[in-house]
Amino acid sequence: MRVLVFKSPEEAAERIAQIILDALRRKPDLVLGLATGSTPIGVYSRLIRAHQEQGVSFARVRTFNLDEYLDIPAQHEQSYAAFMERHLFSAVNISPSNIHFPPARGSHLLRRCQEYEDMIQACGGIDIQVLGIGSNGHIGFNEPTSSLASRTRIKTLTEKTLRDNSRFYGPGEEQPQVAATMGIGTILGARKILLQAFGEKKAEAVRAAVEGPISSFWPGSALQLHPDVSFYLDPGSAARLTQLDYYQRVQENEARLADRL
Ligand code: PGA
Repeated sequence: MRVLVFKSPEEAAERIAQIILDALRRKPDLVLGLATGSTPIGVYSRLIRAHQEQGVSFARVRTFNLDEYLDIPAQHEQSYAAFMERHLFSAVNISPSNIHFPPARGSHLLRRCQEYEDMIQACGGIDIQVLGIGSNGHIGFNEPTSSLASRTRIKTLTEKTLRDNSRFYGPGEEQPQVAATMGIGTILGARKILLQAFGEKKAEAVRAAVEGPISSFWPGSALQLHPDVSFYLDPGSAARLTQLDYYQRVQENEARLADRL
C-alpha cells in the first residue's frame, strides 16, 4: 500500500487527476470506477478543466459507479446519478451509453447486479477505481461486516452512514435506507485503486484500513490484499497512523528508483 500525505486535499486531487489524465492519454477508452460524496469532487473538477481548457476527450471513456440508493428517482438531487451528472458528466463529452450505475430501481435486482459485474468484465475490467472511505470504514456501501469477497448486491445502510449523510436531506424528507453497491471483491478487481480521505473524522477508518488487521468490521482493511492501492491523505486523516516516517521513505525510494523499476 502506498500512503501519501499532502498538505491539502487540493494537492491530493491534483495528483490523482494527473494520474487519470495520463492513463487516458495512453488509453482513450479507459474504464473508470467512480465514487460520489464530498471527497472526489476536487478530482472531477480538475478533469472537467482538462476537458474544457486542454480539449481532453472523454468520448470513449467507460464509467462504473460504485453505488446508488435504492428507489431514489434518478433526477432526485441526492441520487448518485444526479451527483455524477452535476459534478462530472454534464461538463465533459462522455457518451451517456458509456455511463453505468448498479441497478437501483425495478425488480430482478440481484440478477441485474450480476449483469453489472458482467458488464464490468465485458469492458475488460476497471482500470482505475476512484475511492473514498466512510468514517465507519465502508468502501462503496460495503458496511462493516460485509463479506470481503462480496460482489455487486443490495446492502442495508448502517445508522452511522445514515447519520453521516443525513445532512443532505431536508426535514421530513425520506432518506434511503438501502443501496446497490459494488462488493469488496468487485473493488479489489480494479487494476489500480486511488483512495482519498480528508479530515480527522476519517483518521480512525484510515488507521484501521492501513495498519489494522484485515477485518470485515473495517471494510477498508480489505485493500491490504490489493497490489496497487494508494491512500491520498491530508494531515487530519493521517493523524492516527504510526508509521508515517516509513511511508515517506518508501516514497523517496520509489522516486529515486523510478527509472529502474
Ligand atoms: P464523503 O463519503 O466523501 O462524503 O466523506 C465517503 C464515503 O462515505 O465513502
